[in-house]
Amino acid sequence: MSAEYLHKMFGLDGQTAVVIGGAGVLGGALCRGLNQAGAHVLVADVTEEGCKQRVAELETLGGKAGYAVVDVTKRESLEALLDAAKKPSGRCDILVNCAGVNNGTAFLDHTEEAWDRVLAINLKGTFLACQVFGRHMVEHGSGAIVNIGSVTSHLPLSRVFGYSASKAGVLSLTRNIADDFGAKGVRVNAICPGFFPAEQNRKLLDQERIDNIMRGTPMRRFGEPDELVGALLLLVSPVAGKFITGTHVNVDGGFTAAWF
Ligand SMILES: NC(=O)c1ccc[n+]([C@@H]2O[C@H](COP(=O)([O-])OP(=O)(O)OC[C@H]3O[C@@H](n4cnc5c(N)ncnc54)[C@H](O)[C@@H]3O)[C@@H](O)[C@H]2O)c1
Repeated sequence: MSAEYLHKMFGLDGQTAVVIGGAGVLGGALCRGLNQAGAHVLVADVTEEGCKQRVAELETLGGKAGYAVVDVTKRESLEALLDAAKKPSGRCDILVNCAGVNNGTAFLDHTEEAWDRVLAINLKGTFLACQVFGRHMVEHGSGAIVNIGSVTSHLPLSRVFGYSASKAGVLSLTRNIADDFGAKGVRVNAICPGFFPAEQNRKLLDQERIDNIMRGTPMRRFGEPDELVGALLLLVSPVAGKFITGTHVNVDGGFTAAWF
């Protein structure tokens, strides 16, 4: 396959991509992938220091990047983010919703505060970002949104009740918005990662849980963040992903296949 053909299929030259949660572990890999495919990447996260570090990393790799601090639970904050995203070219072509938090407790100990926080960031945040950026994309008649779900979008895992509910909601929201936007030129899809140890879920991983995950994962290993990039580039590409909307890609070493 020629480099020219690959570039035509997956290249994102001239496009602007916003990655909310871009300072995080998985968001970082997605920023790198979008940058390497030619997009200008706006790293958006609640932590300014994390944004700055990510931009420095992307620039070291030769990418074009900027950042904006955002709180995904606040509409005004997302509207300011959209304004920042429009600066390079007047428009935003790609939105990746990758902000997320987890909370691991037994169901009867799951507090309302933890429930509200997880649902506010993971689900309401995705809803708000899809609405704010989706309106802009619909006005332009094109764009691609990728929401980050989880294996818990499909099936139960122990001690992550609010998280599972939020991620099932993210997948449902993805399908519903894709239906709404289908004839308006804007595609909406999800990636459902399996287990990629990062700061927030490392805390939840005791040896028993690791053993259970390995038993349940046909490939018998954790994922590496960069292994999400192929799915992302397919879903956001206006050429390779042109007729793909309202669906999800499981990147989970076979975990969900083994459950179903
Ligand atoms: N790591 C995994 O195994 C795994 C598996 C499935 C799904 N996911 C999902 O992938 C996404 C990224 O997770 P990660 O593992 O990279 O975790 P991470 O903690 O490294 O990244 C999450 C990012 O979200 C940001 N964030 C939190 N609250 C925010 C807010 N209010 N506004 C804006 N940004 C906010 C954090 O600052 C952080 O940078 C999450 O949605 C997570 O649920 C992760």
